[in-house]
Amino acid sequence: MPLARSDHTETRDEREPLKGREPSDAFGVYIHWPFCLSKCPYCDFNSHVRRAAIDESRFVRAFVAEITTTAARIGARVVSTVFFGGGTPSLMAPATVAAVLDAVAAHWTMAPDVEVTLEANPTSVEAARFRGYRAAGVNRVSLGVQALDDSALTALGRLHSVREAREAVAIARNTFDRYSFDLIYARPGQTPAQWRRELAHAIAEAAEHLSLYQLTIEPETPFAALHAAGKLSVPDDDTARALYDVTQEVCTARGLPAYEVSNHARPGAECRHNLVYWRGHEYAGIGPGAHGRLDVDGVRRAVATEKRPESWLMRVEAQGHGVVADEALTRAERADEFLLMGLRLAEGIAPERFQRVAGRPLDHERIAFLRQHGLVEIAPNGHLRVTAAGFPVLDAVVADLAA
Ligand SMILES: C[S@@+](CC[C@H](N)C(=O)[O-])C[C@H]1O[C@@H](n2cnc3c(N)ncnc32)[C@H](O)[C@@H]1O
Ligand code: SF4
Repeated sequence: MPLARSDHTETRDEREPLKGREPSDAFGVYIHWPFCLSKCPYCDFNSHVRRAAIDESRFVRAFVAEITTTAARIGARVVSTVFFGGGTPSLMAPATVAAVLDAVAAHWTMAPDVEVTLEANPTSVEAARFRGYRAAGVNRVSLGVQALDDSALTALGRLHSVREAREAVAIARNTFDRYSFDLIYARPGQTPAQWRRELAHAIAEAAEHLSLYQLTIEPETPFAALHAAGKLSVPDDDTARALYDVTQEVCTARGLPAYEVSNHARPGAECRHNLVYWRGHEYAGIGPGAHGRLDVDGVRRAVATEKRPESWLMRVEAQGHGVVADEALTRAERADEFLLMGLRLAEGIAPERFQRVAGRPLDHERIAFLRQHGLVEIAPNGHLRVTAAGFPVLDAVVADLAA
């Protein structure tokens, strides 16, 4: 869609330090566990399969070292959220999780209501560890259910059955205050009617939160090769749009509206860790291939660590961290990132926060243009937010508002 653009000129020093952190700013800690039992054919996350046993005590020492180095660099923080992602963090021993959380608490202050999430694969072996995770301090799990249909699970290369997934969800419900699960839709051959039924079953199992991802054919995955060879066909654009529309309709009707493009929750039950990213707050990324956004001397820095687990270990053992990229973001980059992340949220963005982050106000001409086309609106609280008609063309809306 051609959208009007006008040139924007930076008038201030691009890397001029911004106003300090607001006391209310959230701070998240992301911990990456990079191993899985097998590699799913659609997945391009930083996950690796190893035949030999993983030396978890060596990883614990490295996680603790990287947390120590990061804390020395940024100083005191109140941790609002911790997220163990992967890979498959539910392959970690509960003692490993406990040791990492102890290190986070030793170097920063844990908020009294800290949200601690762990991603888990829904097999019986992993569900057996849930009580250990709770004892370690985890208070929320996110389960990778992916489908409530056995043939779809097989096609996705998953190691669990629907029965096992349901049992893992039941154990999560009895163990943690909060849980969520992920489903992938727009799968090969899936129809809107089938998805409507599957989603109704999912909502019956979900307490407060669901992540619903449209299948993406990621480059250099086995699915990409099959797709290129004509051996895997995904729903066409019209069917994908119908599946998206069913998702919004069913979830909204059942009290789980989208609060972000792919995430649905009862109001108040949003994943606070992911809100840290989407609201443009600060977070530390710990572990192989983790990304962080750190405020150092008032400047926002994009930090990333070495992806390969063994190389990351060696770097951390040699220098106390595995950082391989560490760049100050310009104001224009911060502004674009703030729009890109914030407009994914149903709540949209606060214009005054945009101004604080970007060092310039939002472009009123462009907003007026997008409003005329029904793609964005001004909420009663003054936030700029994307409309239901705008979400399917979100990339174009963001591109139009970006610098
Ligand atoms: C880091 S991954 C997985 C966590 C866990 N290892 C699992 O697989 O259950 C987080 C989520 O991303 C989603 N995902 C991964 N690859 C995807 C793809 N190609 N298309 C859509 N969703 C994907 C899956 O729903 C998955 O649960
Ligand atoms: S989808 Fe999850 S289990 Fe499968 S390879 Fe990716 S991270 Fe591992």
